[in-house]
Amino acid sequence: MSNNMIKKVSGLEILVHWTMAISFFILVISGFGFMFHMEGVGSAFGGFEQMKTIHNWVGVVFAAALFLTIFHYLPVALKFTSDDAAWLSKAGGYLSKKAQLPPQDEINAGQKLLYIAVLVLGTAISVTGVIIWLRPDMANLNSAVLLSFLIHNISFVLFLIVIPVHIYMATLANPGTLRIMISGTVPVEWARKRHAKWVQKMGY
Ligand code: HEM
Repeated sequence: MSNNMIKKVSGLEILVHWTMAISFFILVISGFGFMFHMEGVGSAFGGFEQMKTIHNWVGVVFAAALFLTIFHYLPVALKFTSDDAAWLSKAGGYLSKKAQLPPQDEINAGQKLLYIAVLVLGTAISVTGVIIWLRPDMANLNSAVLLSFLIHNISFVLFLIVIPVHIYMATLANPGTLRIMISGTVPVEWARKRHAKWVQKMGY
């Protein structure tokens, strides 16, 4: 790695992120297919029965990738400091060019909240998905299964709000960020502007 670059995430984390993202999109497309009984989507997956099988197993891949994010991100996201409070009170500086933000650590409060939202929604959608998958039979749905359908669908809708915001923030709103999930590295000066406290901790 050249001197003016800094490593933000590992190769394994990049692999886990894209496994999660790609499985997420397959789940969203097939999920819409089920929700609105979209014939075109169903046939693209080889029929609704096969789409169900694919949806379930891709869900397992998504849940496994989500689980692997815990080791790096959960301790970081739960460490909430006064710098995070300041970041939130100024909405990350997104609403005013004059906003003065304290130096940020590895990830900012917005990213911490994104992580917690993905973890909570991802856990809820995975657990309820398994309950729906393994339900006894359609004729007598018990209340646990009905509640699972409700939670599964609510988490789906919330994901559809959270993830487009995340993608916008990680691309158009903050040019240069996408490199983190491609090469794992960013220029030190770029990182210093956004994560000065972390850059200093890393000894740059
Ligand atoms: C095309 C789609 C996506 C793009 C371009 C994208 C981009 C990124 C980038 C660049 C980062 C690193 C941010 C940083 O460390 O400063 C990141 C982190 C992350 N992404 Fe994504 N992502 C996408 C889809 C997803 C999906 C579908 C999920 C979850 C369902 C997800 C969950 C996360 C999480 C939990 C993090 C760590 C927290 C954070 O740094 O914000 N991403 N993403």
